[in-house]
Amino acid sequence: MALKITVIGTGYLGATHAAAMAELGFEVLALDVVREKIEMLERGETPMYEPGLEELLRRHVAGFEGSSGRLRFTQDWAEVGAFGDVHFVCVNTPQKRGEYACDMSYVESAIASLAPHLERPALVVGKSTVPVGSADRLARTITELAPAGEDAELAWNPEFLREGFAVQDTLHPDRIVVGVRSERAERTLREVYAGPVGEGSPFVVTDFPTSELVKTSANSFLATKISFINAMAEVCEAAGGDVAMLAEAIGYDDRIGKKFLRAGIGFGGGCLPKDIRAFMARAGELGADQALTFLREIDSINMRQRGQMVELARQALGGGSFLGKRVAVLGATFKPDSDDVRDSPALNVAGQIHLQGGQVTVYDPKGMDNARRVFPTLGYADTALDAVRGADVVLHLTEWREFRELDPAALGEVATARLILDGRNALDPVLWRKAGWTYRAMGRPTA
Ligand code: UDX
Repeated sequence: MALKITVIGTGYLGATHAAAMAELGFEVLALDVVREKIEMLERGETPMYEPGLEELLRRHVAGFEGSSGRLRFTQDWAEVGAFGDVHFVCVNTPQKRGEYACDMSYVESAIASLAPHLERPALVVGKSTVPVGSADRLARTITELAPAGEDAELAWNPEFLREGFAVQDTLHPDRIVVGVRSERAERTLREVYAGPVGEGSPFVVTDFPTSELVKTSANSFLATKISFINAMAEVCEAAGGDVAMLAEAIGYDDRIGKKFLRAGIGFGGGCLPKDIRAFMARAGELGADQALTFLREIDSINMRQRGQMVELARQALGGGSFLGKRVAVLGATFKPDSDDVRDSPALNVAGQIHLQGGQVTVYDPKGMDNARRVFPTLGYADTALDAVRGADVVLHLTEWREFRELDPAALGEVATARLILDGRNALDPVLWRKAGWTYRAMGRPTA
């Protein structure tokens, strides 16, 4: 009998995971406590923009013509408990307000709601990013609350998907990491992931704490790479060097690698910033805070980049105040191919300039609705050209392909001044300069 799978939480991670499990051939029942989310997904729509996800959903959500019908939704915990052999917990763990630690309440409440309905042998699999030690605690809760007792087990299986590549990363992961306490749990997860493992994804079997730490340390390493190159950008700026050339040259060393060495306004989003902070908070609780003090510096280098972009814009405009200056901002999301503006460096820079009196007009290919919601007082335009119309300076803050394909000559016709600041080191300086623009980027020479 094929395993039956449930997915708890249908946000970013859960919706993608549920659709991917159906794609792998499993019957899937997904639960969310928010009715509207489920209703959207049942219509084959997603609350967020993620390339390929709606198509994948429509291939499997029951009710679509031609769908496999393998993916259904519910709000009934008893139905979930009765249906599933494997229950994936995919709820989010946001940063607590005013604290570094992450908020575990969604995970805890998911486990507390599910466990009393586990009447037969089942494997609960945590995918959320949690502080190390959580799995051990949650395993005890499950044993206490589940009628099946010891037969209801926990495993930890962190998720490494990137926004914009969620479908690809879930179906063809770089690696699958599972923290297990029994051979049965390992066997079950090998069965779940037989497809991707058969196609070459490495399968790493480990204990609870290591599996939890793999996720937070991977994100810390990525954050460190970005802040490292941004620190180099500051030095290049001071010394007259070119950080883009530097990144290319050090990246040829296989041990360093080329990826995640793009200097600019730094990292944002729902993961990297909160994960490094929660990691520091947890290390403090464990008495290991000394080991992670460097992450404080990684965080502060990152936050400094945003202020430096604002400063670069002020200097480029003559060094005075922003009052009366028209500033076009290209990009609002924290990265391209996403509509996510959580902790977005782009929106933060736009907001700072606005608060200092600049007349800011933002355009983003997919993030306009979310940006308007978060920052309603900024100006918004429907196209890049409209945002740039009449601008004294143009700020490129999220590296969408659409912006790389812009025609600098056409934009030059409508801008008041041909002055572009590239906060992502992603545009071609030669192209812009040829069209008469002054091009400036962080950590690169002026001409
Ligand atoms: C990240 C991890 O990559 C992923 O493995 C994990 O599961 C969740 O967190 P994501 O938040 O989708 O994924 O974004 P990512 O692609 O890592 O980018 C994070 C931020 O870093 C973005 O704001 C991006 O613009 C910035 N970044 C990335 C840089 O500033 N420079 C770079 O070279 C790379």
